[in-house]
Amino acid sequence: MSDLLTMALPKGRVLRAVAPLLARAGADERTLLADDRSLIREAPAAGLRFLLLKPDDVPTYVEYGAADLGICGRDVLMERASDLYQPLDLGIGRCRMVVAGVAGKKPPSGVPRVATKYPRCAQEHFAGRGVQVDIVTVQGSVELAPLVGLADLIVDLVETGATLAQNGLEEREVVAQISSVLIANRAAFKLRHDRLRPLMEALRSPHRKPAPGPAGGAGAGA
Ligand code: PRP
Repeated sequence: MSDLLTMALPKGRVLRAVAPLLARAGADERTLLADDRSLIREAPAAGLRFLLLKPDDVPTYVEYGAADLGICGRDVLMERASDLYQPLDLGIGRCRMVVAGVAGKKPPSGVPRVATKYPRCAQEHFAGRGVQVDIVTVQGSVELAPLVGLADLIVDLVETGATLAQNGLEEREVVAQISSVLIANRAAFKLRHDRLRPLMEALRSPHRKPAPGPAGGAGAGA
């Protein structure tokens, strides 16, 4: 068994944003962002090992203890109703979950159909407003659904708004503000807290550069 702290990371956009933060903890950005197919990346000098995952799978690896901690969007945690420990908001991956529809088009008279990757969040949002909806779950390109009659509305993430605008859609309501957070396995957080603490410090502050070595919190960064 490796003594390295294992961190589950989402591949893609968030990984590119988080790599400079992890560099502050001693991980080599080039290793993290290397364009190859290896799903485990190690930073032994920093005492870290990274698992590269589909974003939705990050909480699963942390929950079951296959990873000590992970980085995950609040959207993923909300949709799973996960109660994983969230010790730190990283302030990256900022966007919002919204309800959107075809620009200028009135809502239908009956029960609107809502396409989304987030059926649970959408259901809760509309239930909270006392609005009955039919939810259709799709996995991506959600903005297409109202354009071709699959749905009247969508619930999806908006960052710049470009995707909505380019597809003739407009934002109607905000469901939640989203950002990426650090999540931790509760047992690991207790048992390996000395190792996690300097890592959290590195992720938190842009000015300090603790160096959590493999020997753990007793090192220079503690
Ligand atoms: C996300 C989201 C929107 C888009 C919003 O999709 O689902 O489609 O980004 O970004 P914008 O407001 O800056 O245009 P993503 O690129 O992650 O791909 P997906 O369709 O697979 O979800």
